Amino acid sequence: MSFLKKIQEKFSSGRVEREVPQAPSPSPSAPARTPGAQAAPPKAGALERVKNLIAVGSGKGGVGKSTVALNLALSLAQEGFKVGIVDADIHGPSLQQMTRTGRPTMTDDDFLEPPEYEGVKVMSVAMFAPAGQAQIMRGPMVTQVIRQFLTQVNWGELDYLIVDLPPGTGDIHLTLAQMVPLSGAVLVTTPQEVSLLDVRKAVHMFQTVNVPILGVVENMSYFVCDGCDKKHFIFREGGGRKLAAEIGAPLLGELPIDPRVADSGDAGVAFVVSNPSSIVGQAYLEMAKQMKVQQAKLQRSGDGALGYFLLEWKQNV
Ligand SMILES: Nc1ncnc2c1ncn2[C@@H]1O[C@H](COP(=O)(O)OP(=O)(O)OP(=O)(O)O)[C@@H](O)[C@H]1O
Ligand SMILES: [Mg+2]
Repeated sequence: MSFLKKIQEKFSSGRVEREVPQAPSPSPSAPARTPGAQAAPPKAGALERVKNLIAVGSGKGGVGKSTVALNLALSLAQEGFKVGIVDADIHGPSLQQMTRTGRPTMTDDDFLEPPEYEGVKVMSVAMFAPAGQAQIMRGPMVTQVIRQFLTQVNWGELDYLIVDLPPGTGDIHLTLAQMVPLSGAVLVTTPQEVSLLDVRKAVHMFQTVNVPILGVVENMSYFVCDGCDKKHFIFREGGGRKLAAEIGAPLLGELPIDPRVADSGDAGVAFVVSNPSSIVGQAYLEMAKQMKVQQAKLQRSGDGALGYFLLEWKQNV
């Protein structure tokens, strides 16, 4: 059976768990890994021609990670870069809905060929399951899917592969940090303290696995109503700026609430494509520029060096 067929069967049936080897997932008491003992590096041809892998994460759910990740990818593509985006949110994938991409095809050498949206290669678990069906998978299976997305997809030559992370700081994040050389992370938050609380955990996670933080995006910063032209700070003011200062990373943007952003996500059209000259559209383009500036700075200073990361587990910390 072809790989495509197998993966489709796994995702569209309730049999997923039984077919998958139950490899033990990392536990806090597991011994420290040495670089040589880490998960196998990506299969040749999958990521070897990807220059930069950028994770977009938060720790907090619903703050706009997927929207920012997609529009960041599209903004980079609009600048002429070769870009891909992978939906690492296995239990709550959004990117297929946000791009309306079809299913991947299969190459002769058993790689998945990702569909494209506006020239950006897209891969999401939602491409394999009927809409509305939950991905009934335990940790090891989820980890396996992430591995497949990174090692058995024909990403080809890319300047940027953007990874849209799920909320939290769990298995998927650690699998990624162990498996692939992340060039950096962009953090998305909303302004209020309740959001910053979770984002600080994500900061700690990225710092622990030596992934440089390229900047903070404050989303849903304010709302300008039609009638009065005044900025209403619905979720409080200045949280993103405060976090950026705390961690010594640049604030990449403060994006207002614009109901058209939600409309375009639901309609499968990235906002930066449909409304490039709007305030939010311009902010996305600027965010991509600032992220590149920060990445170049870190690379010059040696802090953004690529490599496989040594993940050390410590108990009771
Ligand atoms: N600036 C904005 N203005 C208005 N709506 C927005 C804005 N940013 C995101 N949204 C909308 O908010 C909702 C949540 O966004 P999104 O799915 O990107 O969040 P997320 O952090 O990825 O969520 P999850 O944690 O579930 O993965 C979506 O409907 C999206 O269209
Ligand atoms: Mg999301």
